[in-house]
Amino acid sequence: MNIIVRQETEQDYELAEDIVERAFRNEEFSDHTEHILISRLRKSDAFIPELCLVAEIEGHPVGHIMLTRLSIVNDKRTYDSLALAPVSVLPEHQRIGIGGMMIKESIKIAKKLGHKSVIVLGHGNYYPKFGFMPASRWGIKPPFDVPDESFMALELEDYALTGTQGIVVYGEEFLIQQMNEV
Ligand SMILES: CC(C)(COP(=O)(O)OP(=O)(O)OC[C@H]1O[C@@H](n2cnc3c(N)ncnc32)[C@H](O)[C@@H]1OP(=O)(O)O)[C@@H](O)C(=O)NCCC(=O)NCCS
Repeated sequence: MNIIVRQETEQDYELAEDIVERAFRNEEFSDHTEHILISRLRKSDAFIPELCLVAEIEGHPVGHIMLTRLSIVNDKRTYDSLALAPVSVLPEHQRIGIGGMMIKESIKIAKKLGHKSVIVLGHGNYYPKFGFMPASRWGIKPPFDVPDESFMALELEDYALTGTQGIVVYGEEFLIQQMNEV
């Protein structure tokens, strides 16, 4: 099976939204608007085209991932970071490693682009395999109440988050979404 992960293009937009909608359709925690979120994020300042990827099997898109800009803010300064969300694989193609491939590729590209860290709100038993750890270990807090193990951060360089304390500030598009999902 030939699986590749590549940057999303405009031609993928409609299909990508369909993948996202179908991936989240039966998820209880979801408010089923993630496909609208990706469309809004693409038009926002948070959008980074190189970090919006699709996974294809034999040329057919089956997965999608998006990393967008966010800030970590305290009373002294603001740090740039990335939000990993959403990540989506069509139900019939889940659990064969496609989600993992997209996460690893996006991390590789984010490093190459010089980003320092990534924040994710998600399953506490999935993201640690990619190096994510509870964000609380650095004093990085979510802007809403979530279980500690679900709010995670990844350093893209050694010690990139040392001394980074503050509250994560998502773009407006994102915040509405995240609050609905908690
Ligand atoms: C989460 C998701 C992107 C993972 O993609 P995938 O291609 O199935 O993932 P991989 O094949 O790389 O990894 C499979 C592992 O993911 C983990 N996993 C997948 N879905 C999970 C879930 N709902 N809860 C917890 N762990 C999950 C498991 O550890 C699984 O390993 P296992 O098969 O040994 O049990 C995919 O399941 C999906 O699109 N889910 C619906 C949307 C969603 O929940 N997105 C994430 C929001 S945080």
